[in-house]
Amino acid sequence: MRAILVRDGKGPAENLYIGEIATPEIKQTEVLVKIKAFGLNRMDISQREGKYPAPPGSSTVLGVEFSGTVTQLGGSVSSWKVGDEVLGLAGGGAYAEYIAVNETHIIQKPSHLTWVEAASIPEVFLTAFQALVVIGGVKEGDDVLVHAGASGVGVAAIQLARVYGARTVTATTSTQDKIDWLFSLQNGPTHTANYKTEDFVASVKAATGGKGANVVIDFVGQSHFNKNIDALAVDGRMTMLALLSGPVVESVNLGPILYKRLHIEGSTLRSRSVEYQAALIARFNAEAFAKITGENGNGPIRTFIHNVYPWTDIQTAHEEMAANNTKGKIIVEVA
Ligand SMILES: NC(=O)c1ccc[n+]([C@@H]2O[C@H](COP(=O)([O-])OP(=O)(O)OC[C@H]3O[C@@H](n4cnc5c(N)ncnc54)[C@H](OP(=O)(O)O)[C@@H]3O)[C@@H](O)[C@H]2O)c1
Repeated sequence: MRAILVRDGKGPAENLYIGEIATPEIKQTEVLVKIKAFGLNRMDISQREGKYPAPPGSSTVLGVEFSGTVTQLGGSVSSWKVGDEVLGLAGGGAYAEYIAVNETHIIQKPSHLTWVEAASIPEVFLTAFQALVVIGGVKEGDDVLVHAGASGVGVAAIQLARVYGARTVTATTSTQDKIDWLFSLQNGPTHTANYKTEDFVASVKAATGGKGANVVIDFVGQSHFNKNIDALAVDGRMTMLALLSGPVVESVNLGPILYKRLHIEGSTLRSRSVEYQAALIARFNAEAFAKITGENGNGPIRTFIHNVYPWTDIQTAHEEMAANNTKGKIIVEVA
């Protein structure tokens, strides 16, 4: 089959090319899916650069989310049939014509979602759901702070927070264009802060009457850490999903962590066990998936597509993501 490979094993976007590799063989509990579209994620860039190896046992081909059609079933698979239209999560291998995935890692594609929209959902919505609902324990009336608000994961988390009954959702981002876009969304943030020109702690305090955020979703690490501690309310919970500004914080006052009884938890989705991921997917499917519609649908949560590329333009797609100008997801169609 054809797949997108990385010349020399790692390198810049120009090293991406369409090559030939063996079609994956499925295990007893797996299905083979012919891929229609896959989503780009930040980790694909890190993996391409040689900074994020695929987890043990996963395909070394890039790509962790896809939509497509089931073409083959493992011996013990009973919940799917050939021809089913699905979307799914994988440890790797989605930048390809075919992918082998555990039967627990796919969800039936609703007919109202296009292939592109379906491929935009698994990684960012499962990550946001895990961070906000499973770890953050968001509940009705909570005040929430979401960083990188216009990112794929960020805009998913904002909408989920609103639908789970958050009283306020403050989103941070870096441009007025992204702020205007976020405010245009049906279940977008109630408040925003441009973290380059405004103090987001002051924005959260103003939005919450001085109380602070019950739940913080952070991707930024270093530059935001002390401010996040300040922005958290008593008994606040912060889920850390990435360290975009760096991993080392020079100076931290531990006092507020103790006195405010803060919970700070890091989380990754890709490195979790198959059993953990299966349980997360099942819970997400039962609780939240039905609320997601396409960009122009009328559901309370929408998936937003920044751009769609044919897979022959994969280099441009990677460069666009790296430029940090996206609002929502970049999706690639497999021809
Ligand atoms: N732990 C997990 O399980 C998990 C799973 C999936 C994704 N992630 C992480 O979640 C993040 C979002 O992923 P995505 O695919 O949705 O990304 P994305 O759509 O490409 O958006 C990333 C955004 O982060 C912001 N950003 C970049 N560098 C920053 C910095 N130094 N300080 C503050 N903001 C910065 C930029 O927007 P602004 O204009 O707002 O600066 C950028 O557009 C990534 O870091 C990714 O690695 C983690």
